[in-house]
Amino acid sequence: MTGDRNNNEYLPRPARITAVRRETFDVKTFSLEFVDRADAFSYKQGQFAEISVLGQGEVPISITSSPSRKGPMEFTIRAAGRVTSAMHDLGPGDALYLRGPYGNAFPFETLKGRNLYFVAGGIGLAPLRSLINMVLDSIEDFGDVKILYGAKNPEELCFRGELEEWKAIPGVEVYLTVDRASPGWTGPVGLVTALWDAAALSPENAVAILCGPPIMIKFAAAGLSGRGFGDEAIVMTLERYMKCGVGKCGHCNIGGSFVCTDGPVFDYAQVKRMPEKEGVF
Ligand SMILES: Cc1cc2nc3c(=O)[nH]c(=O)nc-3n(C[C@H](O)[C@H](O)[C@H](O)COP(=O)(O)OP(=O)(O)OC[C@H]3O[C@@H](n4cnc5c(N)ncnc54)[C@H](O)[C@@H]3O)c2cc1C
Ligand code: FES
Repeated sequence: MTGDRNNNEYLPRPARITAVRRETFDVKTFSLEFVDRADAFSYKQGQFAEISVLGQGEVPISITSSPSRKGPMEFTIRAAGRVTSAMHDLGPGDALYLRGPYGNAFPFETLKGRNLYFVAGGIGLAPLRSLINMVLDSIEDFGDVKILYGAKNPEELCFRGELEEWKAIPGVEVYLTVDRASPGWTGPVGLVTALWDAAALSPENAVAILCGPPIMIKFAAAGLSGRGFGDEAIVMTLERYMKCGVGKCGHCNIGGSFVCTDGPVFDYAQVKRMPEKEGVF
């Protein structure tokens, strides 16, 4: 811990909501800025913050904005329970508290020159979005970028405007699917793993990066493995119940690993070595 209050990563710092964008009926994206200093904290793609609402509690939330972009820190939050629902009741000008950033990061430099396949389910696109926009900011350094995204129904797809923007970028392909179609949906119906062939996923010089519900990650990782992707070429971000976020309380441990400090980003080789991997996904 540093003696400088402003740089103390353990200390919740007051932040102000500057904008709120509704993504779906229960998901909103919040833009935040610190009240006590002008800069955002410096963070890496894939890290998370502990966000608190006074009197309600504190929850870990991935940073969905990209370190490659100036602008507010963004967090995309599902109203899942007590704290996240309290956040959904807040609007521009309201206060939250933030500490962090915590956790490791998605690789970046080692992805250069590779084909990247992002596979997301539901709100799982939020942590990947940080890396996706960072990659898109220097797209010439990467091979093909394919984004495969599934949701329960069309209304639960997040970042719909941005998905259209990504689709229009040369070298980027976006594949969407839903479990259940609604009137007007003309795209595929089925699990995100059913998009492999349409997206012509090949393990050659490729890395797949996954985030979504545990069941999706389980089948996606196994499916990619079956298509010849090496364990180190399948990268995922995991969720675990957390309290401290800094490796002290033991709430998030899996065997000898703490998801908060050793993760949340792991590759399939690491996950396969986890003694309780059946409880991971
Ligand atoms: C590293 C990390 C990053 C995360 N990033 C995001 C994000 O970007 N956006 C987002 O909306 N959520 C994210 N989450 C999940 C978020 O932290 C939980 O939804 C939140 O803690 C729920 O708190 P609550 O008080 O609102 O709900 P509670 O009242 O505590 O719980 C509501 C329901 O959610 C379940 N729940 C609570 N925590 C978790 C969890 N970690 N995993 C699975 N189920 C849980 C409870 O069992 C209960 O059924 C992340 C979690 C982790 C560990
Ligand atoms: S959340 Fe406390 S050790 Fe990971």
